[in-house]
Parts: sequence; structure tokens; C-alpha cells
Amino acid sequence: MIKSALFKQTPVYFTDTGKGRTIVLLHGFPESKEIWSELIKECEKKFRIIAIDLPGFGATPCIGYVHTMELMADAVKAVLKSLHLRKVVLAGHSMGGYVALAFAEKFAEHTKGICLMHSTPKQDTAQKKADRKRAIEIVKHNSVHYISEVIDTLFAPGNEKRFKSEIEKLKAIGKNTSAQGIINALEGMMIRPDRTNVIVNSNFPVFFIIGRKDRILNADDLLKISRGCSRASVCILENAGHLGFVEGKQEVIVRLMRFARRCF
Ligand code: MLT
Repeated sequence: MIKSALFKQTPVYFTDTGKGRTIVLLHGFPESKEIWSELIKECEKKFRIIAIDLPGFGATPCIGYVHTMELMADAVKAVLKSLHLRKVVLAGHSMGGYVALAFAEKFAEHTKGICLMHSTPKQDTAQKKADRKRAIEIVKHNSVHYISEVIDTLFAPGNEKRFKSEIEKLKAIGKNTSAQGIINALEGMMIRPDRTNVIVNSNFPVFFIIGRKDRILNADDLLKISRGCSRASVCILENAGHLGFVEGKQEVIVRLMRFARRCF
């Protein structure tokens, strides 16, 4: 069932299914809660699953002109407050992982664990910031073309044919995202701080899901970061790029649930 919680006079939409301990799913960029439909079908048998449309994505409207990771984390908190949920595991895909880290920093007492699915605690490099500035200019003129190009780079080379229908679905989600939503997220990601300190000595477990063939985040860099975190564990998907929940769906489902069990 789709529900909403009010945050800054704006409805934040989410689904709430299953029973028991709670896993909160945070989508990446340019996605929506729809990306989790397959994963939810399995995980809701064992857990309560909240999947949120972050501000500017899916059905949730934009809030102002920059969606910082902190603002998105506050939107997540508003959802949890509306449900009286105190302790959750957060699983964030890429940008969703940046939001999960911002949440853990602000609300450590509510964080039982974090799964960083193709995500990093590092801030943008100078090159990445310049790329985002360029992307913002492109999106102002033609967001549909930009979205299509971004999504093509998310899959591991060679996986395009196998996941044709999933690629189409992601493109449709991306194309439904407003240019303002895309720009607000790009602005927010560009100014996010380094949050390595949130997970280096965390008192909650951290789980890295890494795609060996990820073209957005280098697998070796992520492995190195994970080795510096005292409570980190890692799952490497040999045949995945940036979209393990599609390219390595079954393994991601099993490993995420195993991780969540360990956190509670
Ligand atoms: C994502 O998948 O959410 C994006 O690749 C994140 C980013 O652009 O840093």
C-alpha cells in the first residue's frame, strides 16, 4: 500500500509491507521506490519493508532547489516518525547510500545497520563535481536524453541484452523524473561531505555490496574503504556493474536479509 508522511509541508511517499524488524530501502539516482519491487517480494516475507520515494523522485515532489543528503535523511526520518519506528536497517543504492550515511550521522540511535549498495562514504572528486555541473546544464535543456545515457552506464558491459526489459523499466522511471528533481539531487550530491568517519568505528554493522564491473564506483576503491571500517562486511558481485539488485538479484536478496538478521 502506498502511504505518505508530511515533511516540510510536502508529502513523502512510501510503501510499507511485511511484518517484523524493519529494512528501509533508499533508491539511487535517477530512480524511485519502483526499483525495489522484485526485492520486496522476497524480503517482505521475513521483514517489514519501507521503500521511500526520496524528494524529487517518484511521487514525492521537490522541496526547494537543492536536495542535500541531510534534507533527504530528514525526509526519511519523517517517514519513520509517522510510523513510530525507532530502530531500522537502511539499505541504500548509490545516492540512497549517501542518504543512509547522512541519516546514520544525524540519527545514530535509530540506525541498526547500513547496507551500502554500490555506494561510497567518499565525497565527489573535483572531476566528478565538474561532471555534475555540466550535467546540470544539459538537464536544463534535455533531461530525457541525459537520463537515457546515464542508465546505459549503470549495467556491466555485456549485461545490456540480458537485462533489456529492466533497462527499459529504469529508463521509464528516469524519464518520469522532473528536470528539477534531477538538478536538485545533482546539486545535493555535489556538496555532500565525506562521511567515512560515520562508518570507520560505527557501533552498527556496515555491509558493502560491490559490483566488480561497476563503471560508476571502482570496486577496488570500495574494497579499500571497507577494509578501514571495523564492522564492515563485503559481498562482491563478479558479474554486476552498478545495479546488483538487478544484475545479481538473488544473491543481493539473500545477502541483504542475512545482513539485516545480523543487525537486529
Ligand atoms: C546513483 O546511482 O545513485 C548515482 O550514480 C550516484 C552518483 O551519481 O554519485
